Amino acid sequence: MKHSFIISGTSNKPLSEKISKATNISVGKTLTGRFSNGEAQIRVEEPIYGNTFYIVQSLSMPVDEHIMELCLIADALKRGGAEKIVAVVPWFGYGIQDKVFLPGESLSSKVVIDFLQTVGIHSLITVDLHSDNIIGFFEIPVVHITAIPLFAQYIRKKYGKKVLVVSPDFGGAKRSRRFAKEMGQEGTIGIIDKERSMTTGAVELRGINLDVKNKIVVIPDDFISTGSTMLAVIPLLKKAGAKKVIACISHPILAGVAADKIGKSDLDELVVTDTIEIEEKKRKFLENKLHVLPTVSLIGKYLK
Ligand code: R5P
Repeated sequence: MKHSFIISGTSNKPLSEKISKATNISVGKTLTGRFSNGEAQIRVEEPIYGNTFYIVQSLSMPVDEHIMELCLIADALKRGGAEKIVAVVPWFGYGIQDKVFLPGESLSSKVVIDFLQTVGIHSLITVDLHSDNIIGFFEIPVVHITAIPLFAQYIRKKYGKKVLVVSPDFGGAKRSRRFAKEMGQEGTIGIIDKERSMTTGAVELRGINLDVKNKIVVIPDDFISTGSTMLAVIPLLKKAGAKKVIACISHPILAGVAADKIGKSDLDELVVTDTIEIEEKKRKFLENKLHVLPTVSLIGKYLK
């Protein structure tokens, strides 16, 4: 008889457990350790031949270690004769580097995709890619899920339909438009004129196209990393008279001191998903501002 297993990498075990519970697919036994020289050691301790495997691994920090783990798990499954290997990668790290932005740079998204295809992954399930252009770099099928309906449902219930949706930059306008439509809005969305230095990463804001006075403003974004974008956007909106500022951000990378800074900021609420596990220390910095939406209902239905 054929079996299916979820194989959890080390990046987000709670999400693997949730998916397992929702789908009734058990989490397979594995050894995911490190040799004394730092190299990853992987062993899948389940019958592999002819079976289906869903590897759940977010490419969160430490990103390179998580990529390597994912590749080694897939290779172990391929060599053991797995019939189907599906990578569930809720946060696709390196997906931001989808172009050669400056001469001499690598096309990093493509490199990671090539790795995944080389080790025998048959298809990939992911959530809110930074740029869906990278789907074109894949030869294997990709299921690209969006968490926008989850956010919109949460916001509608808590703040009503009449919030003002504002994109933090021109690049996010399509996402914000979709968010507004999901909220049942047909009107204009706000867009902030943001520029980020390609070399230093510094963020500069030049203003916004709409009046936000007394409005509940919702900022959809795909990820929060250093927090520079949100930390610039919040004072701009509050100074312009926004009543509340709520960020709806799919992937809480929260690098370095971002959680601490956001916790101390004037942001009213940070709504994120569980694609990336947030360390306890960072959760504490964010305290009551943080609300995490589960993605299991979105992802689970693609595991059959
Ligand atoms: C920009 O294109 C992204 O969608 C995010 O808005 C942004 O880069 C988040 O990064 P950070 O938190 O470092 O500003």
